[in-house]
Amino acid sequence: MTVREILKMGDARLLRQAQPVTGFDTDALHLLVTDMLDTMRAANGAGLAAPQIGVDLQLVIFGSRERNPRYPDRPIVPPTVLVNPVITPLSEEEESDWEGCLSVPGLRGMVPRWSHIRYTGFDQYGDAIDRTVEGFHARVVQHECDHLWGMLYPMRVRDFTQFGFTEVLFPGVAATEDD
Ligand code: NI
Repeated sequence: MTVREILKMGDARLLRQAQPVTGFDTDALHLLVTDMLDTMRAANGAGLAAPQIGVDLQLVIFGSRERNPRYPDRPIVPPTVLVNPVITPLSEEEESDWEGCLSVPGLRGMVPRWSHIRYTGFDQYGDAIDRTVEGFHARVVQHECDHLWGMLYPMRVRDFTQFGFTEVLFPGVAATEDD
């Protein structure tokens, strides 16, 4: 088990356009996925992108096997390894909700995202992924894939009256990160 350091906002490596993965089902790729899973679980995260541990590749992981007891109302998103993703919005409709990020610790912001998307890509074995999703699942995918294009969620915030410290916005809620 290798828990890697998570880069924080301000690190230029978080602003790169990540490179496509060219080799699937390799030892190096499986090791990277294992490290990312270990790192995400250790941080109690809902997702992690390779650039967040300084790896310049188009690879994200997200989802959870069980309901987070601190967020019992959140839908379960299937555990997913997504390589070289492409996101297509299926309508103009957007919805806003709170987001946090392991690279932006202690803060939360209200972020608009497309409500309905299709996303395609591959898993670490090179098998195709093609899903049509909405709501929280769609939000998580858009947040994680944004990391591959050098975008952090504060860049998406439109109303900065709804951006601040978790402990101030949500008094009484534990300030540990979960995104
Ligand atoms: Ni993030």
